[in-house]
Amino acid sequence: MTTKPNKPIMLFDCKTSQNVIGKEKFLNAFENILNHGAYCQGPETKESDEKLAQYSNVKYCSTCGSGTDALTLALMAWGVKSGDAVFVSSFTFVASAEAPVLLGATPIFVDSKPDTFNMDPADLRRAIEEVKKEGKLNLKAVIAVDIFGSPCEYDEIISIAREYGMKVLSDSCQSYGSIYKGKRAGSIADMTATSFYPTKPLGCYGDGGAVFSNTNEENEIVKSCRVHGMSPEDHYDNVRLGMTGRMNSFQGAVLLQKLTVFDNELQNRYRVASRYDNELSSYYSKQRILDNCKSAYALYTIACNDRDELMTYLKENGIPCGAYYPRPVNTQTAYKDWNNRSLPVCEKLSKTVLSIPMTPYLDDEDLDYVITKMNEFAAKKMNKAA
Ligand SMILES: Cc1ncc(COP(=O)(O)O)c(C=O)c1O
Repeated sequence: MTTKPNKPIMLFDCKTSQNVIGKEKFLNAFENILNHGAYCQGPETKESDEKLAQYSNVKYCSTCGSGTDALTLALMAWGVKSGDAVFVSSFTFVASAEAPVLLGATPIFVDSKPDTFNMDPADLRRAIEEVKKEGKLNLKAVIAVDIFGSPCEYDEIISIAREYGMKVLSDSCQSYGSIYKGKRAGSIADMTATSFYPTKPLGCYGDGGAVFSNTNEENEIVKSCRVHGMSPEDHYDNVRLGMTGRMNSFQGAVLLQKLTVFDNELQNRYRVASRYDNELSSYYSKQRILDNCKSAYALYTIACNDRDELMTYLKENGIPCGAYYPRPVNTQTAYKDWNNRSLPVCEKLSKTVLSIPMTPYLDDEDLDYVITKMNEFAAKKMNKAA
């Protein structure tokens, strides 16, 4: 019989890596910052820019204050403004749509696919055609979100966007470390925004984010906009509108340490995912990862019709879990003005998805227990139905 582990099972684990890396390495790096005194955009963030660009095999990376800043800065680099249509998944964290709205653009929500949970290219085309026919908005950009860490159908999405003269911004806030047909997140779309929020696959110990691009022009605008639109030549001449979107040096120092164990952590996320893939009952619909792609497994998510009952059952048995996301963005109060397309798959996903423990540090004892309890629930349901 599988027994409950003596230690808590974690849904996310933002702490164990401190012990794996060694606390003294963080303390030394922090002491160094206290000594040099460049608390914002100091040497640690500059080194992070270089290391992250190398890791993603992309020309430019600019770290910034958060994933939301990263999305906003990338759209600013493209001059997104009022009158522009920005096509975005609705089954996502709100920030994917918040960024274009903050710039005055109109979000056009796109439905997801029931198996990948990611943007449905066929619905993207439909949405573009609708906006084109109406003729009121300028077709500007597509934001493709890699939900739960799993890459979208980029070939299809990029080719549709190109047909209509649009650029594609990858929202890799959950997918840093993922691989799409041999390319790492950061290098797949025209630009990429990621988040280093502590629960993300590569997490800081506070807020952080980064923008990736392949052109110097875009990168220079991002660097300027993250400090109020400052001119690189004259720091008291702001040549465009911007914001306070810098990364602080402490988060840069954390990133540099976390990068040293990142590949190992990803391998361990694959280990956990592969046990769930192989051992969880077929009662659950597991998120489909595209062929020749690797998710970064920010979350491991299944769909099932009795989601709320399953969630209660798991929690009663000491297994943390979460419904990400119980409301598609288009149904949220602040977005009601743009809730004008029918998105049946997003609606259904928001009622059926459940994310279960996924951290690099879950051991076999934890996994045996989670899998046993999940399968016990599934067996009861299937017996009842038989
Ligand atoms: C898909 C997605 N986009 C954007 C963000 C925003 O990132 P941040 O919280 O760092 O601003 C998140 C973070 O949760 C996210 O999951």
